[in-house]
Amino acid sequence: MQDTRRRTFLKTLGISALTAGLTPLIPSLKRANADEVDWFQGINRVKDPPMSLTPKEKGHVPSVQVPDGIKSGEPFNLAIQIGENLHPMTANHFIQWIEVYLGTDMVVRVEFSPLCPQAKTTIPVALKEAATLRILSRCNLHGIWETTRKIAV
Ligand SMILES: [Fe+2]
Repeated sequence: MQDTRRRTFLKTLGISALTAGLTPLIPSLKRANADEVDWFQGINRVKDPPMSLTPKEKGHVPSVQVPDGIKSGEPFNLAIQIGENLHPMTANHFIQWIEVYLGTDMVVRVEFSPLCPQAKTTIPVALKEAATLRILSRCNLHGIWETTRKIAV
């Protein structure tokens, strides 16, 4: 009985010592800092739509305006701006591009430099039938952000 407890104790010690020894070498074993977010780990989306946007979401999620009365095959203007609060366009922090997809097909890609004063664009689109558009944008500091928009025809 005593041997079992001793063995368990030694096992626990060994695992703890091993983990402590590896912590500086393996970042995933480091204690997570709640303020540190790896924005480039994947596509960022609104986590709790649409009631409580975080400040990062307010500044990065593409906002889309679509006119009423869209007719099959007739072009309409899709107005896109990055962020509910328009994202800054400075030399150190800016939107690099916006892409619009219909399914898996890219409709358009708009590239920006920090010299462009506003992170917004208007794109002509025509749909034969109702569809969901996917809009992606990339911030040089905060990664790729996505929103989708169902459009009735
Ligand atoms: Fe940003």
